Amino acid sequence: MKYMLTFLGHAGFMYETENEILLMDPWMSTSGAFDSSWYQFPCNHSLGDDVREIIETTNKEVYIYISHEHKDHFDVPFLLTLKLSKINFITPKFRRDHVASVLNKLAPKSVYTPIDSELINIGNLEIRLFLDDQEIVRDSALGLYDRDSDFTFLNLNDCKVYDRVDELFDIYKKFNIFTCQFSGAVFHPVCYDYPEKKYNEISKSKVNGKFGSVKNLIDKFKPELYIPAAGPPVFLDPNLVSINYQEVNIFSSPFKFKKYLHDTLPELNVEVPVPGSKFYFKNQQFDIKHPFENIEEMYDEKNIQNYAKNYDYIFSEREKQKSSYDPIDVQKRLLVELCSKLNGFKIEQKMNILLEFSLSEIDDTSIYIDFENNHIDIMDKFKKSSNPTYEISASVGDVGRLLDGYLNWEDFMLSFRHKLKRTPDIYQVAINGFLTMEKEDVPKFVDNLMRLQNQRERITIEVGGVLYSIDKYCPHQGSDLTTHEIEDERFLICPKHRWSFDLEDEGKAVGQEASINAVDLDGDGS
Ligand code: FES
Repeated sequence: MKYMLTFLGHAGFMYETENEILLMDPWMSTSGAFDSSWYQFPCNHSLGDDVREIIETTNKEVYIYISHEHKDHFDVPFLLTLKLSKINFITPKFRRDHVASVLNKLAPKSVYTPIDSELINIGNLEIRLFLDDQEIVRDSALGLYDRDSDFTFLNLNDCKVYDRVDELFDIYKKFNIFTCQFSGAVFHPVCYDYPEKKYNEISKSKVNGKFGSVKNLIDKFKPELYIPAAGPPVFLDPNLVSINYQEVNIFSSPFKFKKYLHDTLPELNVEVPVPGSKFYFKNQQFDIKHPFENIEEMYDEKNIQNYAKNYDYIFSEREKQKSSYDPIDVQKRLLVELCSKLNGFKIEQKMNILLEFSLSEIDDTSIYIDFENNHIDIMDKFKKSSNPTYEISASVGDVGRLLDGYLNWEDFMLSFRHKLKRTPDIYQVAINGFLTMEKEDVPKFVDNLMRLQNQRERITIEVGGVLYSIDKYCPHQGSDLTTHEIEDERFLICPKHRWSFDLEDEGKAVGQEASINAVDLDGDGS
């Protein structure tokens, strides 16, 4: 029996036909991702050798799809170990061509960069990529149709094209296997300074929101099989390992999600995979084989502890390298870097906010950025500021590694090796972008943000018998709000990241400084 789809761990899959092999986002490096802060879970490192050998010995045409630049999807150290002259890469044509340009430098057989929804024919496979190309997020999903077996696979990984369900249905009509991320993966609230109770409340509500939106998506697609994948990772660095054992956080186990789906969509077929799980599809039937029996055991705490022990050496070396940095020198270099970012940050909106960047080893001074007056400097630590503030702190060694190019800004933010605090506790798109972007991308980010904020296309919706006119695009990252959910006949929920807008309060976002400018067309809201 020939298996068609193999799970490679995290968001990685391999699809085989008679003449082609397509790998998707193989993340298999023993150094993990984001400067070794994230590791694949369950561990998939032993599969790396198998993949290498398959590529070396096969006569089939080999394709590797890279969905986006996050290192848990774009694993350059692993790609470098493959026989690159045999590999055809497929990666989206994003405005920032970072992935394609790195791939081209690897001198593979070819690099193909399709635009959104473009049809790519690979033997009997029809492939399309669906792009989410914002400045603060760049990601893609892959749809695959195998004409030979009439098999459809939709791989959303962590790409939130949640507002394109109708379009995907029009193209594929049915989905045999659907996979997408079900767990949280961002630094909120993990890195924020919250009291435990608040941390738990935020985490719980994020988990519920994520579970709910993925469940709704699954319910719309009605796949024959859903595979929970694309995380969560595990944290093996002794400085981060406690995250794995928190009673409540945004990183959910796939078994918990499976149970939730069982309760809410009892008809749905769900299979939790482990690296090496194989899915064969023939005559509209699935046959699934896992590499061992009790896959739930992989999630035991003991297993995580053993995993961490195996990679102790990576973290001891990292700590040694970190201790070579001089705090004052790093602070000065950080000032120069942030100055360059600020130079490109020509934002029209009023930003009455102070950003404080501290290094944990320096007690008396911090870098302060006053966006309102476009001013940045190293200053004595303020006792207290009455202005809204956004505070970030990290160790000298971690910032030194960032400045030395071991990782970029987005990787640094995703490494969870920093602490954040915002007063008041309101999400600030602009500050988030300022911190996450590379300096050369800051101007484009600002343009995009301004475009979003000035975008005034409107749509009319009916909620509880009342007509509202609202902005068509979400002020967060521009999702089309024609597709939305309504809660309590009052709150409009954006399909992408589930921001909630209160229609009875002029469309103001709950807990964020943003609005969809809702106007009650019936006049009095009745
Ligand atoms: S685009 Fe992120 S919540 Fe709407």
